[in-house]
Amino acid sequence: MKRWLALVLMAGSALTAAPIEAADPPTTSQELHEVLTIAPNINHGGRVFAACVACHGRDGNGQAQGDVPIIAQQHAFVIAKQLVDYRHAERWDLQMEAVASTHRLGPARDIADVAAYVAALPRAGDAGLGEGRNVAVGARVYARDCAGCHGADGEGNGVLRVPRLAGQHYRYLLRQLHDTVEERRPNMPPPHPQLFANLGVEEFTGIADYLARLHPARRVLPAQ
Ligand code: HEC
Ligand code: HEC
Repeated sequence: MKRWLALVLMAGSALTAAPIEAADPPTTSQELHEVLTIAPNINHGGRVFAACVACHGRDGNGQAQGDVPIIAQQHAFVIAKQLVDYRHAERWDLQMEAVASTHRLGPARDIADVAAYVAALPRAGDAGLGEGRNVAVGARVYARDCAGCHGADGEGNGVLRVPRLAGQHYRYLLRQLHDTVEERRPNMPPPHPQLFANLGVEEFTGIADYLARLHPARRVLPAQ
């Protein structure tokens, strides 16, 4: 073999064999994957949750005027994924990006533990509601476009990893819908942007108000 060719080949194999720097931070999917492999410690999760109480409340019910969402009883996977997404700037919010940073929240174990703790918190407070005018419109659109994934009662699905929406604060929900349309919520997957693009103000306020009034296993509208 010509000497220069042997050198090129050696250089190539040295490159492919180069170890990944130990200090490389994990990617979003690597970190979420790591969180999912951890058997959560709920007691430790309760201690981590101390860092959340100032905004989400001791009961995890957020703020009824809708700046801060209810997180109690959200599916653990959904909570963990949102924390990882904020940490990697794949969901945008200045406060939550700071909270979820490794300086504040710590490693994957803290995410797994706090997610399990929050998912097990009972629902204590009431959701903030809208004006009630478009609830019937919202119920129709929800049943047509959303219930197939988010569940007939907005209960979501922990196994299929779909968030619970029932009983969430009206203003928070409305903001998420607008943020998606205006491309401020990059982690909202298809088909959301496409579904929302066809909706008007009545449908938006209606869906958010309908969901805020829903309690899983309790229907707000009489069966028709
Ligand atoms: C400084 C106030 C503040 C603190 C502290 C805080 N949060 Fe939040 N949290 C918010 C706000 C505001 C939002 C809504 C952000 C948005 O619109 O994306 C939010 C959103 C979330 C969401 C997304 C909910 C959803 O339905 O998608 C989760 C999960 C969450 N927080 C968990 C936590 C956890 C766990 C902690 C503690 C480790 C925590 N937060 C601490 C203010 C806070
Ligand atoms: C194909 C299944 C599917 C359909 C249909 C669907 N969603 Fe979703 N939705 C999801 C999944 C999965 C997520 C979680 C995205 C993530 O990983 O952050 C989500 C997230 C959301 C969130 C964010 C929840 C939060 O706490 O911030 C809202 C709000 C939402 N969907 C509303 C709707 C509405 C309203 C409709 C109908 C117009 C709808 N979705 C239709 C699967 C679906």
